[in-house]
Amino acid sequence: MKSILVSMLLLSTTFCAVVPSVKKVDYSGFKVIRVASTDDVKDQIESLAAHVLNPGKSTEIDVVVSPDNVEALIALVAESKVLNEDVGAALAEEGEMQTYAVPSESWFTAYHPYADHLQFLKDLQAGYTGQSEIVTVGTSIQGRVLTGIHIWGSGGKGSKPAVVIHGNVHAREWITSMTTEYFAWQLLTNATFKSLVDKFDFYITPIVNPDGFVYTQTTDRLWRKNRQTVSGNTCVGRDINRNWPYKWEVAGGASTSPCSETYKGQVAGDAPENKGLKAQVDSLKGSRGISLYLDVHSYGQYILWPYGYDCNLRAENDAQHRSIATRAQSAIRAVSGTAYTIGPSCSTLYATTGSSTDYTDVQGNATYSYTYELRDTGSYGFTLPANQIKPTVVETWAGVVSMLKDA
Ligand SMILES: *[C@@H]1O[C@H](CO)[C@@H](O)[C@H](O)[C@H]1NC(C)=O
Ligand SMILES: *[C@@H]1O[C@H](CO)[C@@H](O)[C@H](O)[C@H]1NC(C)=O
Ligand SMILES: [Zn+2]
Repeated sequence: MKSILVSMLLLSTTFCAVVPSVKKVDYSGFKVIRVASTDDVKDQIESLAAHVLNPGKSTEIDVVVSPDNVEALIALVAESKVLNEDVGAALAEEGEMQTYAVPSESWFTAYHPYADHLQFLKDLQAGYTGQSEIVTVGTSIQGRVLTGIHIWGSGGKGSKPAVVIHGNVHAREWITSMTTEYFAWQLLTNATFKSLVDKFDFYITPIVNPDGFVYTQTTDRLWRKNRQTVSGNTCVGRDINRNWPYKWEVAGGASTSPCSETYKGQVAGDAPENKGLKAQVDSLKGSRGISLYLDVHSYGQYILWPYGYDCNLRAENDAQHRSIATRAQSAIRAVSGTAYTIGPSCSTLYATTGSSTDYTDVQGNATYSYTYELRDTGSYGFTLPANQIKPTVVETWAGVVSMLKDA
């Protein structure tokens, strides 16, 4: 464990000279508390919190608080509920970081360092050179290449409508890279899915926010945004899922404050990660078209579709979005009993502007665009224990397979 951490630290410092310090945040004794919020105390809640876990939600906020701030927080609100008594103890249940083994089922029993995620994709691809290739989707602010895998079937490379899947947009949502890697692994290794591989060209990028992801491993496990700075401000990071250049300027679904978890950036699309992701979507739109776009997040157990920026607006094919999401919801429940809530994202969860699914729906002309919010509903939140990786990836894949059959 120690040596892995040390090599991760070395890796990250060679990549990015700007990392100021590598002292890791100790969450021992920190609690996750769900509080009933009103607009007048929202800012005070945020100032007491180490992290807001569901930024955007206005009435019920999940926050991570240090032991010193617990009393002040509870005194501030009418209602509160402790979801997790000790974040440090929950982090221990995430298990030891596991070093690399060739692509097999055992990959999905532990979390892994960033370099090993890259190696996993390369090794998987190396076993299937006739029907896959490694693709790059732009570069992060610290110079890491957003790395994905393109998978095709019997029609040949680039012959079918595209399925585009992004994972780990938000750095702390570790279960999402494991899950999107499981999709790629099943598509290539499991003959059950040959008909799906023959039907689509898949573009799966498990970690689209590599700088943030590395930062969660070296420094702050609960970091969300990218690691981009704003001149004249000490706060770091843009929210990649509030930076897409569609309805970015609309008020209410993102923050204009660089210190906020949902900071939208200074200009639409000014995060380099977004430039790469946008270019991928635009290029596929212009060539073979996008059948299905999935942005995989955690937590909350939701399947959401456009629109995020307006709670009254419905997609032209809202009914079809609902029907396919309903099937995925049933497929997931059939595997494990896990209950998902489905609906248009603004009216079901909260308003978001500059979101990936609004962009891919309207500008990307994708037939279907969904956001998955994976397990759980808040007890572990982003720090899902290692023993829930396998059940989560398997149930989610069942949901996605049911979508692909209809898409
Ligand atoms: C292949 O897919 C089927 C259907 O989802 C599943 O039951 C089986 O476990 C998969 N095989 C492997 C090796 O993952
Ligand atoms: C959008 O996609 C549909 C197919 O789903 C296609 O018929 C149409 O031409 C596309 N429009 C644009 C502007 O690309
Ligand atoms: Zn997210």
